[in-house]
Amino acid sequence: AADAGPASAPLGFQAIPMSTADTVVVPEGYAHAVLNRWGDPLTAAAPAFKGDASDDGEAQAAQVGYNHDGLHFFPIDGKDGVSGSSTEGLLVTNHEYVTPHYFFPKGVQPGGAGWSPDWIRKAQHAQGVSVTHIRLDAPGQWRRVQDSSYNRMIHANTPIRMTGPAAGHALLRTQADPEGNQALGTFGNCGNGWTPWNTYLTCEENFTDYFGTGAHPAEQADYPDEAYRQHMLRYKGGGKTADPEYAWDTHDARFDWTQTPNEYHRHGWIVEIDPFDPSAAPRKLTALGRFKHENAALTLAGDGRVVIYMGDDQRSEYIYKFVSEDAYRPGADSNRTLLERGTLHVARFGDDGKGVWIPLTLDTRGTDGRRLGEHFNESLGELLIKTRQAADAVGATPMDRPEWIAVHPRTGEAYATLTNNTDRGSGKARWPGGPKHPGADAANPRDKNIYGHIVRWREAGRDPRGTAFEWDIFALAGNPTRYADGDPRRGSANISAENTFNSPDGLGFDAQGRLWVLTDGNYGNGGDYEGQGNNQMLVADPVSGELRRFLTGPKGCEVTGITWTPDQRFVFVNIQHPGEGPDLDKAQSDPLSASTWPDGPRATRPRPATVVIWKKDGGTVGS
Ligand code: FEO
Ligand code: CA
Ligand code: CA
Ligand code: CA
Repeated sequence: AADAGPASAPLGFQAIPMSTADTVVVPEGYAHAVLNRWGDPLTAAAPAFKGDASDDGEAQAAQVGYNHDGLHFFPIDGKDGVSGSSTEGLLVTNHEYVTPHYFFPKGVQPGGAGWSPDWIRKAQHAQGVSVTHIRLDAPGQWRRVQDSSYNRMIHANTPIRMTGPAAGHALLRTQADPEGNQALGTFGNCGNGWTPWNTYLTCEENFTDYFGTGAHPAEQADYPDEAYRQHMLRYKGGGKTADPEYAWDTHDARFDWTQTPNEYHRHGWIVEIDPFDPSAAPRKLTALGRFKHENAALTLAGDGRVVIYMGDDQRSEYIYKFVSEDAYRPGADSNRTLLERGTLHVARFGDDGKGVWIPLTLDTRGTDGRRLGEHFNESLGELLIKTRQAADAVGATPMDRPEWIAVHPRTGEAYATLTNNTDRGSGKARWPGGPKHPGADAANPRDKNIYGHIVRWREAGRDPRGTAFEWDIFALAGNPTRYADGDPRRGSANISAENTFNSPDGLGFDAQGRLWVLTDGNYGNGGDYEGQGNNQMLVADPVSGELRRFLTGPKGCEVTGITWTPDQRFVFVNIQHPGEGPDLDKAQSDPLSASTWPDGPRATRPRPATVVIWKKDGGTVGS
């Protein structure tokens, strides 16, 4: 629970300049190393990475997955997710999606040339969550414990139990699972969370991109009924087809919504994983709602109830929080089911700096005066499957793409990145037949917000269970080298020519209360983004607002996911999609044309990986 102690956390490192180099740069006095590259064998028996991406689906299931995102270090001897060994632990990592021009061998195009069911299986096995047992074997040298039975991939074909109010609902039943309580797989795993009972939370984000019309031409594919159509439009927009970079629906009927319409309802959830028990099935937590989940930021109320803050990452979507019905009790078995029951809320940000959390229960009245029960057949399960529609009905505030949320370890103040929203004020519809993207308001103060911002809130009485809060804006990203004082695109006063960045995304507090900000934005370094360089990580003092650049990533990457060892001497971050770029054909014919990170001269193609950073004098990172 929060106390009133000092919240300031001075920054002790020398800020680094922006970079356009194809490498990771950290401040003077710091060092870094790479671990857990895509394709690294997870076990002693697993095949080595072939380098030309010809590894098949079976090989990939035993190798580290692709496009690393959220991550957490669980000390090997820990009980509460954060304390214990600082030299050995389980590093649990999300693998969000694959970048096909590097993930498949030359000549293989998703849905096109050289495509086969096994390439789909390979992509399915590279997404989800990896658990790796790691140990500090020598100064700065973290190695996988290659024969550890903890090492594994939980991927898009792993059996997962549905739990909570929507489990078993008719909308979750399929021919393969007539009970609607046993899903297959997790994918689109973006940010993460962790619990004080030593479990990992992985968040399913862009799940809608995997569902298409299979062999049916999209024009001829009809939605099964009007309710399905409305729901599909609300979550997937007007497009009926899968993202052409995945094309799983071409050979896997699960992802063809014309054949398996309810499969799509079984994704878009948060999944709880016990990294220490490989025999325990992961569990989808329907009580936490279904949307494009970014991460899960957990805090405890004074009475032990669990509160989880969550963002829905799409333009003009909402911020949510879950409040558990029962309390966390250290060491109790009941913690295992704690996230199955509770109340989901959605945020309304007032223009007066005050906000309210609106409970999404059957008895809550919508803005039309009707109970939500009347909207959702008196079924909480249906309401949760259609979380966005419930939030629409109560008048939640559309935000500028809510990404990560982090809670200050002492004050309980929550910070959320709003990465950008080029549609704000555009007059475009949010979805076919839906309302327009709103114009600027106090919490999202810029139309066509290309740089993003960070908002924060304080719960009334410091009680995270409550329904009232106060909020303000911590930073408005912008570009002072391009826009003068007075122009909103310049950004807030804590943005300078030295620390300018765009699209804040990952976010985390270290134990001392420094706020670490990771970016996933435009890395073109031209026009509006001139002087910002590659994606990066900055550290902020939440009291003074000072922001300093700590790390710059290689070309075309996003920097995302952050965790520390308990002694705060090591910080781990992920480098996602190095070498990403617009030119798929060029990258396919020359996989080293955009980036050779991290293997450098020995590279055969860029590889997403984890980076560990430490202070050479052994001190606390960031201090
Ligand atoms: Fe996967 Fe919203 O980032
Ligand atoms: Ca993200
Ligand atoms: Ca992002
Ligand atoms: Ca990403």
